[in-house]
Amino acid sequence: MSSQPTQQKRATFSGRQAFIMAAIGSAVGLGNIWRFPYATYENGGGAFIIPYIVALLTAGIPLLFLDFAIGHRHRGGAPLSFRRLNKHFETFGWWQVMVNVIIGVYYAVVLGWAAIYTYFSFAKTWGDKPADFFIGEFLKAGDIANGISFEFVGMVIGPLIAVWLISLVVLALGVEKGIAKSSSILMPVLVVMFLVLVVYSLTLPGAAKGLDALFTPNWEKLAEPSVWIAAYGQIFFSLSICFGIMITYSSYLKKDSDLTGTGLVVGFANSSFEVLAGIGVFAALGFMATASGQEVSEVAKGGIGLAFIAFPTIINEAPLGSALGVLFFGSLTFAALTSFISVIEVIIAAIQDKLKLSRVAATFTVGLPMMLISTVLFGTTTGLPMLDVMDKFVNYFGIVAVAFASLVAIVAKGKLSTLGHHINKTSSLKVGTLWRLCVIITTGVLAFMVFSEAIKIFNEGYEGYPSWFVNIFGWGMAGLLLVVAFILSLLPWKNEAEFKVEE
Ligand code: ALA
Repeated sequence: MSSQPTQQKRATFSGRQAFIMAAIGSAVGLGNIWRFPYATYENGGGAFIIPYIVALLTAGIPLLFLDFAIGHRHRGGAPLSFRRLNKHFETFGWWQVMVNVIIGVYYAVVLGWAAIYTYFSFAKTWGDKPADFFIGEFLKAGDIANGISFEFVGMVIGPLIAVWLISLVVLALGVEKGIAKSSSILMPVLVVMFLVLVVYSLTLPGAAKGLDALFTPNWEKLAEPSVWIAAYGQIFFSLSICFGIMITYSSYLKKDSDLTGTGLVVGFANSSFEVLAGIGVFAALGFMATASGQEVSEVAKGGIGLAFIAFPTIINEAPLGSALGVLFFGSLTFAALTSFISVIEVIIAAIQDKLKLSRVAATFTVGLPMMLISTVLFGTTTGLPMLDVMDKFVNYFGIVAVAFASLVAIVAKGKLSTLGHHINKTSSLKVGTLWRLCVIITTGVLAFMVFSEAIKIFNEGYEGYPSWFVNIFGWGMAGLLLVVAFILSLLPWKNEAEFKVEE
């Protein structure tokens, strides 16, 4: 028996443009600026474009359509939408919520660092040795081999609490006045700032050397499975797919929305920003290499090392360095802020649905405890290694595993056609066999990603961290997410009768 989900009065985006801004705001984040450039460089340079485009077209865009269909058809946060799709699927939604809890607590930390580094850029507060400043003076990072230490670090906590409070106010304002409005302001500002940064970086001596290093193709790399895995991993995180965000945002779309047309805009905008970030970052790294008489390979970095060590070094050397610093860290802050908001929105929407709370109540019920956890875990001297391990595990055994498990269930229960029909009702570009095939093939790729990486970590450990640390904060956390998700799915819904479940 099949029934359309009942309509609840639900907040909506005012229109397509508001939604697109919010979705691009979510997609464009740390993944674009600090992950993509180095992932490209490490995985075959110009040749990486092939697995990247394959992953975008066969997994990224099709799964973005799928997320849109789930959220738009069922008009709920991730748990409610999955529950309405099939009454046994609710755990997938909570699993996604839990992934966002983990991402949220550490994303806030990086966001806080980026914000304070924007301020530091004016006076180049990090001095002549940015690495020593970042690890020593700023983070006061302890050596994990000596055990965990939870000593609070003042310089980290202030901005951390500030970014939490600002984000919570935006979220409390709601879908249109908070999320859509903030993205519509921050996204254009981000694009302009970043374009200026790229143009400026291209004028620096040595920029061409950096671009050569980034784009020179190493075709042999394409034979390595890890390169393909990196491309898929990049797409999932960067496009914010399969972890609840796009389901939640699309649940606020009006009924007659063009899902595929909108999805294409979001997908290609995100990838364009990625390529732009690659150019800007590697032009600057080329300058750094030239100025210090090194090879690009000696200075190229991604993630924390790129943002908080390499860039301050570049800023120290470059003419108009402070301006470059404000552009870089300001861009990182704005990009991360709109993504962070989307991550927390997944949790808020889920709680709001389940407990029938008001928007403001749900925001602070979720936000304040998370802010506390974030501060205790990451505002302390053990923050850095913990962030590294959690990022790895939540990306792998969180996002990739929940994507795999939920897709298996969706395919096995024959829900792909249902969702495909829903997409085709209102969309300009229709989906059919090819779309279903892409989703099915991607499910296989995800299985390979989960198992191959798990075997690798079992055999080799992770980045030389002690095994107890990886077991607790890596495996332990990944396993706990699933257990908590399952328990949450067993809790009763307030006003159960309202939720018609499709059989
Ligand atoms: N999509 C977001 C990012 O790239 C989460 O950082």
